Amino acid sequence: MRIVSGIQPTGDLHLGNLLGAILRWTTMQDDEGERFFFLADLHAITVDHEPAQLRRNVREMAAALLASGIDPERSTLFAQSDVPAHAELQWLLACTARMGWLSRMTQFKAKSGKNREKASVGLFTYPVLQAADVMLYQATHVPVGEDQKQHIELARDIADSFNHRVDDEVFAAPAPYIGTGRAARVMSLRDASNKMSKSDPSDMSRINLSDDDDAIRTKIKKARTDPEPLPETLEGLEERAEARNLVGIMAAVTNRSEEEVLSEFAGQGFGAFKPALGDALVSLLAPIRARLEEYRADDKRLDAILDEGAEKARQTAQPTLDKAYAALGLRR
Ligand code: TYM
Repeated sequence: MRIVSGIQPTGDLHLGNLLGAILRWTTMQDDEGERFFFLADLHAITVDHEPAQLRRNVREMAAALLASGIDPERSTLFAQSDVPAHAELQWLLACTARMGWLSRMTQFKAKSGKNREKASVGLFTYPVLQAADVMLYQATHVPVGEDQKQHIELARDIADSFNHRVDDEVFAAPAPYIGTGRAARVMSLRDASNKMSKSDPSDMSRINLSDDDDAIRTKIKKARTDPEPLPETLEGLEERAEARNLVGIMAAVTNRSEEEVLSEFAGQGFGAFKPALGDALVSLLAPIRARLEEYRADDKRLDAILDEGAEKARQTAQPTLDKAYAALGLRR
């Protein structure tokens, strides 16, 4: 089992990242196999950005991952741009990936919006770099939220197609590894038809790791809901997307099923449910936030962890990259 995943170092970690990815990465540290987690800084430059801000964000995100429980003894943590093999392999794969495959990627459509002509070429080929990210390490399991599933399935197609092209098993076929229940897709607190996201203009739509206890409780209190009491069964939530989202978050945060949460709160309104959810979130996030402060205060330690991770990642990636060059008949 080779576990590989990444996160863009753009701004704050939010509850969607934590439940969909990061906290699942931390529990996978008890499993067999090797783990590589990285800050996808090369992906972060596919849209306009501030260089100084990116530099800060890489450290900030490394601190957030460590505070969330990523343990450098059990996981290799590094910045993508410290391992040139990612960018190199991306080119080799770009010559196998098809325009048609990339054109079907919903995230490109969403991110480029109406202004597709002005989108960077990098934004379009973004999933090819993402494929390189996992294939370089012969990833078998890629723990991500539901929104990244399509990209990982594409990586699988690229791996199969490359192997077929060179008639050799150069790459393992990576598979998305998605959480159960609401963890896979945490929705906005303001509009449950959209996922919780750092690009939502409303800060009230998400819980950030840097939010203090009061902010967490206020955001939950103001989260959109309906006036009905909570039902006894999941079917009763079918037409109630906002309620479903909050019940799902409660389940994910307290490690229970949605049914178990409903059996505790059935018949009660949000006046009772929301304070309980606020408390559960504070118990999860306050200790992570406290550890974040410690890591933030120690840039030297952060840089040392990232340097060591990069070294290990470079060593692991090189043989696969060499094999890919050779399989294509390139001398290099
Ligand atoms: P990113 O940085 O947008 O998100 C990081 C992780 O958080 C998950 N996630 C969510 N899960 C549940 N509910 C949500 N509302 C939610 N929002 C975000 C994402 O699914 C992801 O797992 N392209 C990737 C980064 C990347 C990557 C990779 C991931 C680059 N290379 C290789 C895996 C493997 C991205 O932008 O994720």
